[in-house]
Amino acid sequence: MCGIVGMTGERGAAGSVYERLKLLEYRGYDSAGVASLDGGKFFVSKRRGRVYSLGGEIKHLHGHTAIGHTRWATHGKPCDENAHPHVLGKFAIVHNGIIENYAELQEKYFKGVQFNSETDSEVAVRLLNYFYDKDPLTAVKKTVDEIAGSYALVVMCADFDGIIVAKNKNPVIIGYGNGVNYCASDAPALAGLCDDISVLSDGDIAVLTDKKIEVYDGNLEPVMREKLKNPALCAELDLGSCPHYMLKEINEVPTSITKTCQAFICTYDNIKSYLSGIKRIIITGCGTAYNSGLIGKRYFESFARVPVEVETAGEFRYKNPVIDKKTAVIAISQSGETADTVEAAKLVKSLGGKVIAVTNSPYSELTRVADAVVPVEAGQEICVAATKSYTGQIAALYLLALTLCGGDVEAGAKKLVAASELCFQLIQRLDICTLADACARSDGVFFLGRDLDCAVATEGSLKLKEISYIPSEGYPAGELKHGTLALIDIRTVSVVIITDEYLAPKSLNAVEQILSRKGKVAVVTNIKDVTKKLDGKVNIIEIPDCDKYLSPLLSAVVVQLLAYKTSLLLGRDPDKPRNLAKSVTVE
Ligand code: M6R
Repeated sequence: MCGIVGMTGERGAAGSVYERLKLLEYRGYDSAGVASLDGGKFFVSKRRGRVYSLGGEIKHLHGHTAIGHTRWATHGKPCDENAHPHVLGKFAIVHNGIIENYAELQEKYFKGVQFNSETDSEVAVRLLNYFYDKDPLTAVKKTVDEIAGSYALVVMCADFDGIIVAKNKNPVIIGYGNGVNYCASDAPALAGLCDDISVLSDGDIAVLTDKKIEVYDGNLEPVMREKLKNPALCAELDLGSCPHYMLKEINEVPTSITKTCQAFICTYDNIKSYLSGIKRIIITGCGTAYNSGLIGKRYFESFARVPVEVETAGEFRYKNPVIDKKTAVIAISQSGETADTVEAAKLVKSLGGKVIAVTNSPYSELTRVADAVVPVEAGQEICVAATKSYTGQIAALYLLALTLCGGDVEAGAKKLVAASELCFQLIQRLDICTLADACARSDGVFFLGRDLDCAVATEGSLKLKEISYIPSEGYPAGELKHGTLALIDIRTVSVVIITDEYLAPKSLNAVEQILSRKGKVAVVTNIKDVTKKLDGKVNIIEIPDCDKYLSPLLSAVVVQLLAYKTSLLLGRDPDKPRNLAKSVTVE
């Protein structure tokens, strides 16, 4: 949610910042901007739109210190004036987060002053000038002391050849280079630039020059932050022959499953110890992570007979939840930075509860809050729509549930590896064009299923609406006749997922009900009898037969590819859906 890059010590720093910003566009793409500093003078290029729109101007931004920003608009519409950096007087800043008290600060310090933008961030650059008295670090400290809310704030001062970075509740890392030092919202921006990074903690202020990095805590006492190996690999950011990250990442679904299994086996003993004595589980997360939690619930309840509640983190954190020592809260997040999920985890900790993080991001805020971390090894996920992280999360939850019930985790991992092979074969052969075409022409698409199939239906609907903008709903097949049937007509498509033999006759009733209202139907199934019964009546998408509990991995691939193809048919950009960003680090 907004991407930030800064570097100091490199000739033509603006050009490098510009290139690196492109790697953070998944965090927002409403506007972009770069500012450089040379001989006490700022050079700026910023405008509404994508990073590449700055291309022609970057060569005019001189100096070896520069900062850049790619924006997901929170306060103020996407436009040139609201684009960062905000440059005023002695300071230039980029900001990720929300300054909740910006109106009060405006009133208190700048009453009657005409602001240049509608952003909350502008108040920060004004405060920096207000507090500045020859010492930029003190000005930053005084400014952040005034701010209520969240920020990753990167500052250049005309009198200081370097960068100052302040952090609270929004992620920012610093990178140790050779004669060049860096900061960024996320590791991909620094892939290949530096081997070592540190993750700043809330309240930290870091001062970067070409020669060194100093980090101070909230009292301006020097602190050491652990040096970590930069996890981002250039190879992972390369699209290869794929036209979009979404397709590349769906192709990586099998690897995400197998690597997650390997990582789980390595951390098994540690994870097991955290599960002992657990009698109740709450799963929380947002969006796709919440949807994988719906599948996890079924695993824990079936394998371990432990009751599970699943709640979106944005609801859970405001509900004064009942937490005790026998309850484990499993917080699922690809990025590990989603504000609602992180705050939910912090709430659980404050109530004395246990948090187990299931995450794809080993150095994220969520991992620092959690008691135990179950790694998802999906690799860097760039596309805003989550795909391989979803299947990685399912694999991790499956093994976690087996661990809780004392099951054979190695045998479980073997089943997952076999399922990943089936996913690979399915991705190679799946032809979803006819169904995608029907969806692209429809007024609405419904995804239905029962039990685990219903959980995948929910995710299928999210994926489709997110990247095609077609209205969609995912719901239990049994609920059709309780309201949604009123929406079915010839202009709608219903995708019914049927992978459970026991429940198949029930789901087939729903198919018949839709057909009798002239709705178009596609059925995703691995049950021969279902195929036989529906042959010639509906579009059938056959998926390989596999362990009942792992069939969501296969139907997930189908709904992901369906969303992808539909998005392309409608001329959308599947990697960068409108209004969205990948890591939602604000409320
Ligand atoms: O990084 P997280 O897993 O915490 O993100 C949660 C959601 O924002 C995310 O899954 C979102 O719903 C995706 N764009 C869905 O494809």
